[in-house]
Amino acid sequence: MRENVAAFGRWVLRPRMLVDVSQTTAATSVLGTEVTFPVLVAPMAFQGLAHADGERAMAQGAAAAGTIMCLSTLSTLSLEEAAEAAPAAPRWFQLYWGPDRGKVRDLLARAEAAGYLAIVVTVDLPEVGRRERDLRTGFVTPTSLSQVTDNSLTWRDLEWLRAQTALPVLIKGILIAEDAVLATEAGVDGIVVSNHGGRQLDGVAASLDALPEVVEAVGDRAEVLVDGGVRRGTDVVKALALGAKAVLVGRAALYGLAVDGAAGVERVLTLLREEVELALALCGCASPADVVRSHLGRV
Ligand SMILES: Cc1cc2nc3c(=O)[nH]c(=O)nc-3n(C[C@H](O)[C@H](O)[C@H](O)COP(=O)(O)O)c2cc1C
Repeated sequence: MRENVAAFGRWVLRPRMLVDVSQTTAATSVLGTEVTFPVLVAPMAFQGLAHADGERAMAQGAAAAGTIMCLSTLSTLSLEEAAEAAPAAPRWFQLYWGPDRGKVRDLLARAEAAGYLAIVVTVDLPEVGRRERDLRTGFVTPTSLSQVTDNSLTWRDLEWLRAQTALPVLIKGILIAEDAVLATEAGVDGIVVSNHGGRQLDGVAASLDALPEVVEAVGDRAEVLVDGGVRRGTDVVKALALGAKAVLVGRAALYGLAVDGAAGVERVLTLLREEVELALALCGCASPADVVRSHLGRV
């Protein structure tokens, strides 16, 4: 978890001067969906524990900021209720894939019917990580996480899943090139480079450090996103320079939710968008597409 944040500090921006940045925009598209800036809200379970308005407020805050919210399978609200909270806004559904195939098929059909635009399959939770802070505080989740995942799944099952939905499929939780190659061979549309915000296997690479090898392995066969440790607009620009199409934020959005519901989420995302816009202009980039590898150097 600490490494996710520290990794951003090991890179420096290499800004270009005397570039026309009179018309800058942070807007971009992710798997064909327009967003006002390259930051999405990561899937997070049980948001009702952070604020009484839970996923409803998260959906409304993300909508107000003009970006995509990714709803967790482990939502406090049904996926239909979360969709109704911000009907016009783009939303993705994150799938935890349990042992019952009928239930998986049902969830996919419901997500499609409720207007979710993509399925994000989280694959880094065959078992729940040992979260020592939770053990110390005695925190228990409303539903046991281990009940919602099938730890016998393999790449072959992903092909089955691909055939069950017409929606684009992203796979979340990839950290190495070998798996990125298998994911593209399985026909996924997107890959989220992620170590689950440091909540699963301890001692792995920071997400940002894993990003370059995944980007190189995938080429243009899928869009690559990254999450973990994004706290600042400059972090977003660094991730773009290493080849990410966009980033997801978990805790930043969740803390906004905890403080002030939908308004708190909107505020956090707006701060991030303003920081991205400023960082782009100061780097000499008129848009996210102008950010290239040479905008980044090692400390
Ligand atoms: C409280 C909490 C709950 C989470 N629940 C889920 C979840 O249900 N599904 C999932 O794929 N990832 C889950 N994650 C991981 C996030 O999607 C994301 O990978 C991570 O938070 C990114 O790191 P960051 O918090 O530093 O931005 C959760 C993270 C947190 C902090």
